[in-house]
Amino acid sequence: MKRVLSGIQPSGQLTLGNYIGAMKNFVELQHSHQCYFMVVDHHAITVPQKPEALKEQTESVAALFIAAGIDPNKASVFLQSHVPAHTELGWLITTIAYMGELERMTQFKDKSAGKESVGAGLFVYPALMAADILLYNADLVPVGDDQKQHLELTRDVAHRFNQRYGETFRVPEPYIPQVGARIMSLDDASKKMSKSNPNPGSFIALLDPPDVIRKKISRAVTDSGREVKFDPENKPEVSNLMGIYSHCSDLSLQEIEAKYEGQGYGSFKKDLAEQVVATLEPIQQRYNEIRSSGAIYDILKKGAREASVIANATLNEAKQKMGFILPQ
Ligand code: AMP
Ligand code: TRP
Repeated sequence: MKRVLSGIQPSGQLTLGNYIGAMKNFVELQHSHQCYFMVVDHHAITVPQKPEALKEQTESVAALFIAAGIDPNKASVFLQSHVPAHTELGWLITTIAYMGELERMTQFKDKSAGKESVGAGLFVYPALMAADILLYNADLVPVGDDQKQHLELTRDVAHRFNQRYGETFRVPEPYIPQVGARIMSLDDASKKMSKSNPNPGSFIALLDPPDVIRKKISRAVTDSGREVKFDPENKPEVSNLMGIYSHCSDLSLQEIEAKYEGQGYGSFKKDLAEQVVATLEPIQQRYNEIRSSGAIYDILKKGAREASVIANATLNEAKQKMGFILPQ
């Protein structure tokens, strides 16, 4: 069975962008692949986190994985920090990646822009992400569009390592949705929907109550026309909403166009809000059950045990190839 690995940072509330861009594919791939899904807490600390908030968000993201439909008997769900092989291989990969490569990463440029002091971890973060993926010899990595560049770097360092030390790592492929790889902000379709946007009206959080979702969608920016038409270049706002609609219903973009022909944006937005509510309500219900049962800790323990077996074997192979003496 082919392997899949992905991770989400516990650095704030997850949004509909995370769900459509990444988690929905996690749920789909678990039926046909051997899957490893983790909460990347080591990545979250590359920007300052309050300890209490980090703890709460880590548990919350893990519970959302399960609530969204990941079956812990099919996929291993774990915390990155529970499998120390990640930070160890992360260091080894840091010595393989080049400064120039890391300097080109747009996420680093965005996150460090205008900051007086930037932690060195933010700079080497892509090397840790590469280690995450290579440890499992993952074939596929389901992510949103913004992670494509990090995946390219992962492929480059895997090739470099294999060339230098002999065939060790599988070179992974990104797995990116055709529509919805980049869900845009509700207040500005030139920016990606992000949990770190200071305007909460710009994103839909997976845990937003139904009335909040309805309000946010009714206030979402649209162009001055009235045609519900998929045309990302000329109608970026409506096209973004159509992508969300399509993911939250069984309708294709063409079917949505046909359904709202000649009707303007009003009924389209109203129906869209109901589709989003209907998608998120069952997830929220399961989320509340999981959080109150405390079941997540057993799931994470089992996941870390399963993940460690694969991760430790790959780490030892890489160390041996590099000339480390393994403990006897
Ligand atoms: P992060 O929240 O940065 O840890 O992202 C977790 C996953 O969600 C990654 O695969 C991202 O590419 C994906 N993602 C985050 N925001 C969006 C968005 N607005 N549209 C699509 N995918 C997204
Ligand atoms: N960098 C990713 C993000 O910000 C999260 C991540 C860390 C990841 N390690 C990963 C994603 C490994 C896929 C595979 O979204």
